[in-house]
Amino acid sequence: MAEGGGARRGDAAAGRGENSIVIVGGANMLGWPERTGEEDTEVFMGAGAVLLQREIPDSVNIQAAEAAKISGVLVILYVGGVETPIPKELLCLVHILSPNEMELACLTGMPTETFEYISKAVRKCHEMGVKQLLVKLGEEGSALFVEGEEPIRRPIIPAAKVLGTTGAGDTLTAAYAVSHVEGKTRKEALKFAAAAASIRSMPKIDAVIELLESL
Ligand SMILES: Nc1ncnc2c1ncn2[C@@H]1O[C@H](COP(=O)(O)OP(=O)(O)O)[C@@H](O)[C@H]1O
Ligand SMILES: [Mg+2]
Repeated sequence: MAEGGGARRGDAAAGRGENSIVIVGGANMLGWPERTGEEDTEVFMGAGAVLLQREIPDSVNIQAAEAAKISGVLVILYVGGVETPIPKELLCLVHILSPNEMELACLTGMPTETFEYISKAVRKCHEMGVKQLLVKLGEEGSALFVEGEEPIRRPIIPAAKVLGTTGAGDTLTAAYAVSHVEGKTRKEALKFAAAAASIRSMPKIDAVIELLESL
């Protein structure tokens, strides 16, 4: 394992027949320069959304989320990658937390096998300070939970041929962010995200639009 440490995702995933990913942190976990909050605020000022993930130190994510929030920018935290608990300070800074069903179970210590269980686990996240969750449910699609509102459920858009789903979760969360920045409603953004995630890993935007137009 490279200097800087690595994190392994997936003991739980492998046991359930899902993919399992090994991450070597390397440079991502090392040598982050000290920055002033003002420098970061300037960086985020022109952004539509900030999508954070956990393969960098939590302290860097906290600094970025703080600066993004001050700049009035939507902060989304993609949960995958690292199974260590997410610091409360970071949870309270993000606008949307985006776990899959197993990451949600890990985060809350609660079962997530059914939609009812998932809804209960999401309520625990609300109690932990997270107002919105974009939960990825594999072949069951995805769902957006906003505290105090009915969840919006989104089934998958069946793919012509499933070549593999590695990266589908990253794609779904990123595509949701893109659609949000374009000013789409939550429901429209979920549909766009499902279309993007149904195409093999990380499609270009034209391919997603073409698929949506063909439905
Ligand atoms: N077999 C499939 N066909 C079409 N879309 C899929 C399929 N599997 C996953 N997806 C899409 O990819 C999204 C993300 O996959 P998921 O397994 O939920 O996330 P993760 O990769 O984080 O575990 C799903 O919400 C769904 O929209
Ligand atoms: Mg999955």
